[in-house]
Amino acid sequence: MDEETRLIRAGRTPKTLARTVGPPIQRGSTVLLPNAKALYEEDLGYGRAGLAAQATLADALAELEGALAVQLYPSGLAAMAGAMLAVLKAGDEVLVADCVYKPTRNFCDRTLVRYGVAVRYYDPLASAQEVLGLATAATRLIVMESPGSLTFEMQDVPGIARLARERGILTLADTHPYEAPWLTLTQASAEAGRLQPCSPCQEKPPPTVASPMMTPRL
Ligand SMILES: Cc1ncc(COP(=O)(O)O)c(C=O)c1O
Repeated sequence: MDEETRLIRAGRTPKTLARTVGPPIQRGSTVLLPNAKALYEEDLGYGRAGLAAQATLADALAELEGALAVQLYPSGLAAMAGAMLAVLKAGDEVLVADCVYKPTRNFCDRTLVRYGVAVRYYDPLASAQEVLGLATAATRLIVMESPGSLTFEMQDVPGIARLARERGILTLADTHPYEAPWLTLTQASAEAGRLQPCSPCQEKPPPTVASPMMTPRL
């Protein structure tokens, strides 16, 4: 081994790590693979996508929630934006609970609208039937937040999800840090084959959105 190689290899991860109950926290982005071919074959090519600790957390959440898949995000807003962008495209409409926390509202009003998605807010105290009564042929997604930020309205999450499913509409629930810090995108897996990435609106100008809260309670 020449001198440069000896110096570069010093202090590499030991071959055998002590077995602990939880996975060790690994810090690092470069993942060592057996050969160049493995870079295109292995699931894991870059550590920023998550290593054992993240994979184990996702598995545990999936087990607890009975979920088909779990995707971890570094913040609540990133999770909301990621989920919405995964399923919405120009020309779609999204119904959003009027109580959503401000970063979600800003994302809807400023970003989704710019990409040609129509945003309509509904009263967070509306029944499942009333919410679905607002849906049109363009409604692709219903966003719930329960309890509502600051005002604590409890929405009928199972009822809205059930009626939406019957109409082929996706539902997304931000279950809030007070309850559990994760959100649920129902039906996403069943729809996975049909999901289309968002594309900027090319044909018509973005619809105008009534941004002030419809049902102010504070
Ligand atoms: C309803 C709701 N969802 C998510 C979050 C977490 O958001 P973030 O991690 O972007 O601060 C919060 C934070 O207060 C919240 O109130």
